[in-house]
Amino acid sequence: MNIAVFASGRGSNFEAVFSKIQAGEIRAKIKCLISNNPEALALEFAKKNGISAFAIDIKSVASMEQFLKILEDNEIQLIVLAGYMRLIPNEVVERYFNKIINIHPALLPAFGGKGCYGMNVHKKVIKSGVKFTGATVHFVNNNYDEGQIIAQETVPVFQEDTPEDVAKRVLKVEHKLLPQVVKQICENQLVWENNKPWIKTL
Ligand code: GRF
Repeated sequence: MNIAVFASGRGSNFEAVFSKIQAGEIRAKIKCLISNNPEALALEFAKKNGISAFAIDIKSVASMEQFLKILEDNEIQLIVLAGYMRLIPNEVVERYFNKIINIHPALLPAFGGKGCYGMNVHKKVIKSGVKFTGATVHFVNNNYDEGQIIAQETVPVFQEDTPEDVAKRVLKVEHKLLPQVVKQICENQLVWENNKPWIKTL
């Protein structure tokens, strides 16, 4: 399966997926890395590892055309958002419907939506007093964090936790969950039942 990864920053989830592909555990190829942020470490990682890397922020018709051309030229079958901090334009969502997945650092539909990103999520988690949080992999639609949920994993929240502690605990789970879902999609293990996606072996 031909994959495009979109990342805006550090790119540790991108690295987690890449390393499983390198290890032969996922039968896929990351054909390109797209970032809206020219400073993203993810771009550096891609270049070092021979993956075509593009810094494009879709703000104009021309950049949108360039964006879609990259996806078409690379015959992309799955788009993985790994810490991508921009709303995916309708045109892309429609063209790649149910072919775009995102990892979110909380148990959606809680702690999602506009403004719920990065450390904000974990601050809100602590403030709310929930005893569990976690990571969610979901399909992407036109609204932030509202697409169908594919898989989730929980982690506990402890009394003495800081947002940074929670972030660290959740990130560890993200690095497991995202590659796992990518693998299952590549192996055709995702089934739809009652209009909901399920991973057969999770
Ligand atoms: C992750 O926590 C992800 O869930 C969120 O942004 C963070 C990105 O981290 N959407 P990284 O760039 O993959 O290291």
